[in-house]
Parts: sequence; C-alpha cells; structure tokens
Amino acid sequence: MELRSNQWYAGEDRNAYIHRAWMRRGVPDDAFRGRPQIAIANTASDLTPCNAHLTGVAQFVKNGILEAGGVPQELPVVSLGETNVRPTAMLWRNMAAMSTEEMLRANPIDGVVLLGGCDKTIPSLLMAAASVDIPAVVIPGGPMLNGTFRGAPLGCGTGVWKLSEEVRAGKLSQDDFTRSESAMIRSAGHCNTMGTASTMALVAEALGTIVPGIAGTPAADARLSEAAQLTGRLAVDLVKDGRTPSTFLTKGSFHNAIVALAAIGGSTNAVVHLLAIAGRLGIDLTVEDFDRIGARVPLLVDLQPAGRHLMEDLFRAGGLLAVLREVKDLLDPEALTITGRPLVDYLDAAEIFDREVISVRESPLQADAGIALLRGNLAPDGAIIKPAAATPDLLQHRGRALVFDSIEDFHERIDDPELDVDADSVMILRGCGPKGYPGMPEVSNMPLPTKLLEQGVRDMVRICDGRMSGTAYGTVVLHVAPEAAAGGPLALVRTGDWIVLDVAGRRLDVELSAEELAAREPSAAMTEAFANPQRGWERLYVDHVQQADTGADLDFLVGASGSEVPRESH
Ligand code: FES
Repeated sequence: MELRSNQWYAGEDRNAYIHRAWMRRGVPDDAFRGRPQIAIANTASDLTPCNAHLTGVAQFVKNGILEAGGVPQELPVVSLGETNVRPTAMLWRNMAAMSTEEMLRANPIDGVVLLGGCDKTIPSLLMAAASVDIPAVVIPGGPMLNGTFRGAPLGCGTGVWKLSEEVRAGKLSQDDFTRSESAMIRSAGHCNTMGTASTMALVAEALGTIVPGIAGTPAADARLSEAAQLTGRLAVDLVKDGRTPSTFLTKGSFHNAIVALAAIGGSTNAVVHLLAIAGRLGIDLTVEDFDRIGARVPLLVDLQPAGRHLMEDLFRAGGLLAVLREVKDLLDPEALTITGRPLVDYLDAAEIFDREVISVRESPLQADAGIALLRGNLAPDGAIIKPAAATPDLLQHRGRALVFDSIEDFHERIDDPELDVDADSVMILRGCGPKGYPGMPEVSNMPLPTKLLEQGVRDMVRICDGRMSGTAYGTVVLHVAPEAAAGGPLALVRTGDWIVLDVAGRRLDVELSAEELAAREPSAAMTEAFANPQRGWERLYVDHVQQADTGADLDFLVGASGSEVPRESH
C-alpha cells in the first residue's frame, strides 16, 4: 500500500527536502524512502509512576520495528497519573485522546504502537487511534509485582482503603500504616489489583487490540520486553497489510470485551471507556449491552478488590486466555484480533495452572458476574452496579436516604457523631457527574461513618453520579444518569426519602410520585457546588461532555476524522 508518510517524504522538491533533512540528523537517506514510519505513542512520565518504565519498553518496540524494516519515532503524549492528577484524571481523558489524535494525524507516520498502563492511558490512546484510523497496536505496561505486608498480600489501592479504615477504626497504628507504603508499591508497573488499569489491559486484549497473551504480563517480567519487541515487528506488518482499527474492530469485538470484563470481575470504569472507544469507531454499543451480554457470564477470577489474589497470580495461573477458554462458547467466534486471527483461535492452547486464582466454568466464584444496569425514577438513563464487589444481602434493599450535596459536604458531616444514620441508610452523593464536579471523580464508594465502622458495619448502599475506583468495593450504585448537574432526578432527592434498590429487578427508585418529584426545587447548596469553570479545558469540557451512559466523551469528539491532512505548511 502507498505509505501515508510519502506525503511528507517522497519526491525531490523543496518540501520533501525540508521534511527529510530535519529528520535525518545522521540517519541514512533510505530511512525516509519507502520505509514504514512507526510512532511509539509513549505515556511514560515521572509524574505517572505507573507508566514511568515505558521508555524502557519503548526501546524493545524500537528494536522490533527496525528488525522488520520500519523506522521508529517516539512520540511522547499526554500522560495521566491516576494518583496525582487533580481534580480527577478522568477530566483529562478526553483531552489526552484529543491531543494524541491530533498529533498522530499531524505527523508523518504510517502506524503507531500505543504504550499505556495507568487507568486512563490505554482508553485515551485507543480513542485517539480509532479516530485517526491508522494501524495501531497496544502494549500494556503491565502490573506491579505482588505486595505483602505482615505476611499478607497487599494489593494497590484496595489495601489503602482497607488499611485506612483499620486506622479509623483504631485497629492499626499510624506508623504501621505509613510503613505499608513501600510494601504496597514494590516495583515498576500499574496497580496489581483488578482495578481499572488491569481491567483495561485485559479488556483491550479481548477487544483485539493487543497481541493475545500479552496483557497482564508484569511490568518487571522479561516476557514483557520480548512481547514489546515482537509487537514492534508486527506494527510494520500492520502498515503493509493496511490493518487499521476500523478494518477489524466490530460489535463482536466489544461483545468479547464485555464477556472478558464480566469473567475477570473488572472495573466499572471499563463501561465508560469501552462506550467512548466504540463511539469513536461508530459502533452501536450501548450501556444495555453490558448487562445483556455480561449477565450470563460467570465470574472466574479471584482477584482483589472483591477477591484474594493479585495480577501476578493471574499471570502465573494462565492469564486472560485461560480465563476466556472457559467461556469460549460465549465469545463471538468471528471477532478478529490485531494479528488478523480470531480471538477464539488463541484459546485452545491456554491452560489454567492454579484453580485458586482462575476457576473452571463448572465452579465459578459467581454465576452471573456482569455489571447490572439499573433504571428507575432515580436514574432514567441508567446507573450501574457491580454485584461481584457488593454485599449480597444489600442487593435488594429499602432504606432512608442520607443526602450529601457535594464531596465537601460529605467530608464535613460524615464523622459527625450526631449524624442521623444507621446501617440501613442509603448514602447519596450528588454533583459528582461529568459536568458537576467536573470530570466524574472516583468518589462513589464513600467511606462509611466512623460511628458505624466502630459498630462493625463494613458496607452500606451508596448511590452517586460519579465513578468508583476499580480498586474499591462495596454496594455502590454509580454513573447515575442524567447526573444531578444535568438535571437528573438525583438532584431532587432529600434526606429521609425512601430509596429502593432492586438489583434482581434492575430498578433504582425513590418512593415518590412523578408529581412529587416535579414539585421539588433542587437544593441551593447543591447547585452552588456545581463546577462553573470560566476558561480553558474545563470550560470546554463542561460545555461539551456527554453523560456516563454514552461514555462521557465530548460531543464533538465522537466519531472519526481519519488520517487525511488536506493542507501543508511550507
Ligand atoms: Fe496507576 Fe492505579 S494508580 S494504575
């Protein structure tokens, strides 16, 4: 096929001279005459510690590209470190996707290897590549090695929630809490629980965008380097074959991703990310599909936050392919991977090596593991809950609402000894959706009131229009749409209203008639707390972000523009 980069480099005119000469700097002339130019979109950054090792990974990708006759071009792109970036990394996911998309399109490249790891990085890279639609393949940076503290496994994120609750409950000293920091984060890589980073790597492989068998390889494992080198070679072949995302990603690919998401017990954040990626490809994926497809899928992976093990254990036990082999009949046999072969082709050779970590189909950890979609007069456009991370007894629940108008309101009152709350209360936090905060922060798993923790309460029903960290757990209803700041009925609930959660019936309601709800005014404290940025990205974001049920992308970024660049500058 005609190389896209020839538009810059081919010919002997002045423009071709400029494009070649500035790039050569010691590189022989033939590097820019008919050889595929492969960008390595690298999210390595010291401020994204989960991805800091990716520059080392990029070196192996480069080796592979060169071996296959291509020319590697490293392209640093916006990187989002989940633990550092404020107010929430999700505010910047679409910006990262937009900036990467534009840089892929603006530069003389024929294909791209996408290096991601921390939560938002693989989603933003895939959204970008889908909208430019040049050959693209992902290398996931891989999880950290297992942590242990006082002889027990310590999972990133999940351990923090647990240990901090123990401190609040007076069961762990502050010194020991601090000591656990370096026990938890003990190597390069992203969080090693089944959080969003692990989920998105595994789901991206089920989607077909990673060479099967690579996702979940620990960051410190030599096999990740080897995989990076082989993927570098593959990227050159992808260009020769013209295998762009739109040529092989289909609704069936997303079906497989949803099956994988359920079988691994993955993060709820995957819902918004997969919806956004599908939106870039023009694939008709809906939030209903997650419930419809995922509902029949058994939970097979026993990983924290809901379970016991960590990502290194999953890799040792056989990895994603061993999991998918158990549910092969639920997968779309036609859906292709980046290699040109169907995903199901890779499953027969897979094997489970540790049934404590990966269960066989006949004895799943849970029969129906998918994410449940709830609707009702509290969530006309839907809300989701991950039953696998919830307390079974709370999945059918009726309780009095305790409403917080903002995250600040929550922090101010939650530990008030006079707070009128008991174990049956339903805590509601609003103003945390895409527009309201802005950026839909991971605050839905509100910490429980200290006085209830002291009584031994460890879970309560919580409802929020925000997201939840993939490393968190609990009976949490999240992604309520429309959000309060977009006029959703969540804005009208008051403390003391009766809330009914019926996961089996897929309902979320407040016991109020439509007339009673319509007669209510939103609370002033809530509307005053909504974000009202005056300029910059936040202004653009609040004006254009869509709701969680369609992926929280910006309205003008949905879809693709292709790789054409009609004008040149010289
Ligand atoms: Fe980066 Fe968890 S903070 S993956």
